[in-house]
Amino acid sequence: MQARISFLLMALGLFSVANQGFAAGAFQHFPYLSNECTQCHKADATGGVISDQFTAEQPALCYACHDSMGGHKYQHEGFESSKCTDCHNPHESDQLHLLNAPVKQLCNSCHDKVGEDVKFPHKPVDSARACVTCHGPHGSEFPKLLPNEINPTCLKCHASVKAKMEAAVTGGTIHPAIAQGCQGCHSPHGSNNPKTLKRSFPETRYTRFEVGQYQTCFECHKGDNFLNKQAAKTESRFKDQKSGKNLHFIHVVRGMENGVDMSKSGRTCSFCHEPHATTQQHLIRNAFPYGNAGFNIRIEYQKNADGGTCTHSCHEARSYKF
Ligand code: HEC
Ligand code: HEC
Ligand code: HEC
Ligand code: HEC
Ligand code: HEC
Ligand code: HEC
Ligand code: HEC
Ligand code: HEC
Ligand code: HEC
Repeated sequence: MQARISFLLMALGLFSVANQGFAAGAFQHFPYLSNECTQCHKADATGGVISDQFTAEQPALCYACHDSMGGHKYQHEGFESSKCTDCHNPHESDQLHLLNAPVKQLCNSCHDKVGEDVKFPHKPVDSARACVTCHGPHGSEFPKLLPNEINPTCLKCHASVKAKMEAAVTGGTIHPAIAQGCQGCHSPHGSNNPKTLKRSFPETRYTRFEVGQYQTCFECHKGDNFLNKQAAKTESRFKDQKSGKNLHFIHVVRGMENGVDMSKSGRTCSFCHEPHATTQQHLIRNAFPYGNAGFNIRIEYQKNADGGTCTHSCHEARSYKF
């Protein structure tokens, strides 16, 4: 097989001993492989290659054969300010696309450790395509060199979130925070918080309530509204008019219940709410996974004129009026 390829190349006049002194990378640039050195290098009187003199300056040197990589609506500054050979080897490389280094390493030679040293990396950042899974290295038609606007970029891979949003379009709730983009709550490059969240959010089902543990939500909502046992309607609609009880407090903060201090076991928002979208009102989720055996607590919520009823949940049907 090897011999046949050599024979074919010889027959095409493409094979010579001139480039055999170079260590062969797994990927060879066609004009180099075919010994067309003088497509790029100037030749000396004897026809030998002058290693540091070229037929043109970059990028014109490369655009003699390649279509322009410029002209994108959003051009990569790292592309504009560099030579092609800052990222590509003109001869050969062990990396796909003749890159000078594996993608992540190449990009982070200028960028500051993007996606590194994080406790919870975002999987695609560590994949073989790494950064170019989401960014065009030369330029793009969308901001931040993305292949699309941010939400469709994320939803292309996250089908389950997309399905929830589609199911919620008629009659359900899509969290208004989504309109501001997934990156409002998640870091696309990974994070020290679980689920690549930019800010804190409890991982466990039960926890002692502290405003600082819910910064993902309290970035936009008022954490103090949960702290008072009694609540005004302006603080929350999830309250009971008759007793004035703040039902967020009752569930999330708890405090003393029948003489026992239950504040260690405050329930997290995820018991009742989805962060993205649901088919019910007020972002109430359809079910809450309980335990590790795949058991789900069904949650059926009904919105009333001035309150709501949990017709099926952790307890028997109960209503509130705000
Ligand atoms: C596609 C254009 C292109 C082709 C074809 C090409 N070179 Fe080069 N070569 C370059 C560029 C650009 C540099 C400078 C690289 C840099 O500065 O990083 C270079 C650098 C060199 C150097 C000095 C650095 C080194 O890698 O040792 C030598 C020697 C060299 N080329 C020899 C050759 C030979 C021999 C051929 C043909 C077998 C060849 N080149 C084909 C573009 C090319
Ligand atoms: C003499 C013509 C010629 C010149 C000049 C040339 N190339 Fe190429 N290049 C080719 C051909 C032919 C291929 C292989 C066909 C293809 O993949 O499109 C190729 C392939 C490539 C690839 C790999 C593409 C892939 O999909 O893996 C890269 C990267 C590349 N060239 C970069 C450069 C850079 C950078 C320069 C300037 C330093 C340059 N080329 C100059 C002809 C040229
Ligand atoms: C030669 C240095 C250099 C390399 C290598 C480099 N970049 Fe850049 N990049 C820059 C500079 C300079 C900017 C503009 C300043 C900034 O935003 O940091 C930039 C900006 C960006 C931006 C922000 C664009 C915007 O609209 O805000 C993204 C995304 C990006 N680069 C991704 C990459 C990726 C992916 C790679 C690897 C394929 C890469 N960069 C490799 C220098 C580089
Ligand atoms: C900041 C680093 C960087 C610079 C500068 C850069 N490239 Fe690239 N280029 C890449 C990366 C990374 C890929 C691989 C993209 C992928 O896998 O989707 C690539 C892919 C390519 C390809 C193959 C795929 C395609 O888009 O056609 C060619 C050809 C190419 N580059 C040529 C060039 C030329 C010519 C220049 C200079 C005008 C240049 N590149 C400058 C990083 C760079
Ligand atoms: C899963 C998709 C994805 C991957 C993979 C990815 N990025 Fe990003 N990147 C994004 C998004 C989305 C933004 C815009 C974030 C924003 O606007 O807040 C961004 C923004 C950036 C910026 C602009 C500065 C900033 O933080 O807003 C740079 C630079 C950057 N990325 C570099 C990289 C590098 C380097 C890699 C590889 C180590 C990489 N990205 C991998 C999606 C990704
Ligand atoms: C190229 C596909 C791809 C793109 C684009 C992408 N992701 Fe991911 N994402 C993944 C994969 C794969 C995982 C790991 C899945 C797993 O471990 O179950 C992941 C994990 C996550 C997780 C953590 C899930 C968990 O259960 O821990 C979050 C959150 C996330 N992605 C959000 C985003 C956001 C926000 C964007 C857009 C900025 C985005 N993703 C873009 C592929 C992608
Ligand atoms: C308001 C903040 C917020 C926004 C905006 C947001 N997320 Fe999330 N996301 C979360 C929280 C909180 C969790 C963790 C939920 C839990 O652990 O119960 C999460 C979890 C995830 C997960 C893990 C699996 C799952 O369904 O729980 C993925 C994937 C994800 N988000 C993708 C996205 C995508 C894609 C977008 C944009 C369309 C987005 N998120 C927008 C807060 C947000
Ligand atoms: C980027 C800002 C932002 C973040 C972060 C955010 N929200 Fe929201 N959220 C909104 C806006 C805007 C509304 C609509 C106005 C309102 O009801 O306060 C809303 C409404 C809601 C609603 C009521 C929906 C309805 O139909 O009545 C719930 C429940 C909710 N958010 C829960 C959460 C939870 C849980 C978190 C944290 C995981 C969170 N939010 C984080 C902006 C945000
Ligand atoms: C026991 C279930 C339950 C828990 C746990 C819960 N919520 Fe709610 N929440 C509700 C219900 C029901 C409503 C709808 C009130 C109405 O409009 O009738 C609501 C409404 C909201 C609203 C809309 C404004 C308001 O207060 O009326 C926000 C914002 C909100 N919740 C955020 C959160 C956050 C953040 C957490 C966690 C810290 C949380 N919720 C925990 C059931 C719950």
